[in-house]
Order: sequence, then C-alpha cells, then structure tokens
Amino acid sequence: MRDTRVIALQLLDWYDRHARVLPWRVPPGGGGADPYRVWLSEVMLQQTTVAAVKAYFERFTMLWPTVEALAAAPDAQVMAEWAGLGYYARARNLLACARAVAAAGGFPTTREGLRELPGIGAYTSAAIAAIAYDAPETVVDGNVERVVARLFAVETPLPGAKPDLVALAETLTPQARPGDYAQAMMDLGATICTPRSPACGICPLIHDCDARAQGIAASLPRKAPKAAKPDRTGIAWVARHGDAVVFEERPAKGLLGGTLAFPSAHWDGCDLPPPGVADWREIGHVRHVFTHFNLSLQVMVGDLDTAPARGHLVPLRQIDRDALPGLMRKVWDMARAAIAA
Ligand code: ADE
Repeated sequence: MRDTRVIALQLLDWYDRHARVLPWRVPPGGGGADPYRVWLSEVMLQQTTVAAVKAYFERFTMLWPTVEALAAAPDAQVMAEWAGLGYYARARNLLACARAVAAAGGFPTTREGLRELPGIGAYTSAAIAAIAYDAPETVVDGNVERVVARLFAVETPLPGAKPDLVALAETLTPQARPGDYAQAMMDLGATICTPRSPACGICPLIHDCDARAQGIAASLPRKAPKAAKPDRTGIAWVARHGDAVVFEERPAKGLLGGTLAFPSAHWDGCDLPPPGVADWREIGHVRHVFTHFNLSLQVMVGDLDTAPARGHLVPLRQIDRDALPGLMRKVWDMARAAIAA
C-alpha cells in the first residue's frame, strides 16, 4: 500500500526549493495569499499560459489593487484591459463577481461559499480556498490530472477518467500546507511532469510513480479522440464615414459578447446586412481559431455616403487597437492601410 502522506511531504520539500516565483504568489511557507490576487490570477489562468497572464495580472492589480477598486471600475475599461485574453464572458463574470464580493464586504472563506459567486466553478473555488485560506481542498486542473494519471497509471482516457482522477487526487491532499501543496502540484505538472517528454530523471516523485515503473509515463493521460473542429466563414465590414470608422458592441451573450467589434455577419449565426451602402472592396481574409470552430472572415472595406445603418462612428485617431478582441485586431491590422488610402 503506498503512503500518500510521504508523497505530499516529498512534493512540499521539492516545492520549498523549486517553487516558481509568480506575481500572485507568496513564497513557500508564507501562508495564505490575498484572495483577490488569487482569484484574479486563477480566472486569468483559465484563459492562457502563466507567461501570457503575468503582464495582464500586473496591469490589473496596478489599476485596481483591491476587489473594491475593480468593482467600481467602468465596464468598458475592464473589457478593454481584458482584450486579447479571450472568452469575454469571463471578463463580464469577473466584474459581476468583484461587485458581489465588494457588496458582501469580502470574499467568502469556504469552497462552498466561493462557488456561489459568478464565474467560480469547482476548480477556482478549490484553488482560492486552498491558496488563500490554506483549506485542505483538492485542486484539479489539467496539470494535476496528468500528474495523478501518471502516479497511479490510470489508463482510462479523459474525459471519462476525470471522476477517478479527482478521487485519487483527494487521497493525496495533505492536512498540513494544502495551499503550498496545491501550487506544488501545479508547478510539478508545468515544469517536470509535462505533457510530451516528462523530466522523470529529476522528478521528486520518481520512486512513487506507477506509470514511470511501467514505462508509460509519456503516453498518459490517454485522451478520447476529439471530433474535428468545424470550419466557419463570415464577413466583416470596415466602413469609413468621413474621419471615422463604424464599430458596434457585440450582444452581451454569445461570441465575443460585450466587446467592441466591426459589423459582421454569418460566422456567428446572425445574417445582418452591412452597415450601409458603399462600393465594398474585399481586401482579404483573416483566420482565427475559436474553442469550437475555425473561422475564416472575409474583410470588406468601403466608404459610406450616409450615417451608418448599424453601429456607431469612432473617430480614426480614437481607435484603440489593443482594446479590440483578437479577431477584430486582425481585421483592423489588415484594413487600416486600405482605409487610409
Ligand atoms: N495555473 C493555474 N493556477 C496556477 C497557479 N496558482 N500557479 C501556477 N500555475 C497555475
């Protein structure tokens, strides 16, 4: 019978020496971190990599050092600062959550309480409870699934294996230092127990790992074959009128919800007309990968004689490229030279 306490102790010992230094983190043994910073970092890290999140995290915490400050921020400014991170529903949930927490006078201190907040699910509630409050909650993200699948040589493919992996992960969570332990699992998964070529030779758990013993570590976790992503097409109009360009707010719900965008059609299931009559010219296509489909968007430019039939005008010099979502940035990068001509 393996001694799970020894596994946790070995991992903590490794973390004391090798913890990554991250802007939202307190050093090993430092106790609970600021729940606002933990929450913000975890929501951002659901979108993208640690490397990409650092700059966003520093900027958000500089602009809004507390949850109360973020709660008081204008929606449009938060959406603009979030631009480029993707999944804009998360940015709206971020604000809704900040406002609920500020109104309640602070973050709940239990996983169950945290889970009732907008945008906080099983993973984030466990992560905040463990990292900010040192509660013995088991935090299971993709990294942890991989580490556990290998430690116990679980060969059932994901996503079916998930409940088993969670149950096995729970057997490892220690009562002492659960916050450091949760982050140690993340660091092990990110730096040593990596997806393709795990560095088993320097792993602190090499002697506890069933997959390593069986020589199958690199092939775990197995994954059920994914359905191919469908291709979608659409059209975007970059319409000039005098010294301004037509933009519109995307509907709050749905793709790129609540962001500033060029008028577009088809790709999102809406068959809206162009923003007015113009001598439209096609200048090319931009490609963009969404979670559930690949998009090729035809980019049209034109000069409107009359006020736009949809959207509103933004003066050319006020267009803030970096405040646009990634797809619309690509459209603007392609269109701006044609527009100026
Ligand atoms: N990935 C997700 N959450 C993380 C955290 N708190 N530290 C490092 N990597 C992470």
